[in-house]
Amino acid sequence: MDINQVLKDASKEIGLANSQADIQNLKVSYLGKKGKITELLKSLKDLSLEEKKTIGAQINSLRDSVDSLIKGKLLKIKKDEINSKLLNESIDISFPPPSSIDAKVHPISKTFDEVISIFGSMGYAVAEGPDIETDFYNFSALNIPEDHPAREMQDTFYIEDKDEENKPFVLRTHTSPVQIRTMLSQEPPIKIIAPGRTYRCDSDATHSPMFHQVEGLFISENANMSDLKGTLIEFCKQFFEVQDLKVRFRPSYFPFTEPSAEMDIAYHVKNNSLHIGEGDKWLEILGCGMVNPVVLENCKIDNSIYQGFAFGMGLDRITMLKHGLTDIRSFFNANLNWINQNGFGLGDY
Ligand code: DAH
Repeated sequence: MDINQVLKDASKEIGLANSQADIQNLKVSYLGKKGKITELLKSLKDLSLEEKKTIGAQINSLRDSVDSLIKGKLLKIKKDEINSKLLNESIDISFPPPSSIDAKVHPISKTFDEVISIFGSMGYAVAEGPDIETDFYNFSALNIPEDHPAREMQDTFYIEDKDEENKPFVLRTHTSPVQIRTMLSQEPPIKIIAPGRTYRCDSDATHSPMFHQVEGLFISENANMSDLKGTLIEFCKQFFEVQDLKVRFRPSYFPFTEPSAEMDIAYHVKNNSLHIGEGDKWLEILGCGMVNPVVLENCKIDNSIYQGFAFGMGLDRITMLKHGLTDIRSFFNANLNWINQNGFGLGDY
């Protein structure tokens, strides 16, 4: 086989290739296990030592040339593909949105609005805290010491920067640090909810690394477990729009509450869809309990006078339940078609 001819053929064919698949095929046909150049190298074994040296060097340089032609062309094809994508998918951001009436509210935003409105009607104010928290607010003030297994339960995202105590900042793993911030900055009685973003290193159909919770905190001289239950049952009735809601409270454990409980709501599946409030299956929707006196003490609240209850609920989960959505990830991939289908219009308010 003429080495120069092979180089000429290869250059021509590589020049004509116009997709990544074309290039892949050429790579196989020249450099693959049974490719032309590989075959040439194999044929060296029948030549004399002298010939092996000179012709071997020529074939090696042919292989290098074809390899670099292929790599160069592949790079160009990839670049062209990106450029044409950018050209075709460009959005003119100087244009106003088509019509404000067409805009949809994201299901999570709708849940935020509803949660704030329902708890608002019960006298709860909205409190806020930062997404990037210190170890103190996210863990230790909440009675979760360094070696506590609860730290492992919540796969934490750490940030390289260190806080004043020389501990790494964290992306808050729950909204509970807002309890601490509020208790340290306000005098009781305190009645707040704290809806917001939370982060854990976890991802599948029911877990997203960024998700949403609402925290609730009520501190007074006589806050009690029965008020806590009543508050949560009333919230669920209004949120799920079900008057006869079957719920149960199971004993549980959280370092920041004592006693602690988890609340489940009953459901059943009929004709492939989920019906909330009735049935023999249970879904866990929140954790709650009486604020641990140690936490009150950490926040300089006199626990011989004051007591309180707290709760923390996953907002993505209750949104999925209410609207029959099955994959949490669909909330966050910013697909306009999905939002148009699952979002809410002004008429829904
Ligand atoms: N912070 C808990 C979590 O993310 C939820 C929680 C449970 C919050 C009990 C509370 C509570 O305020 O009392 O898993």
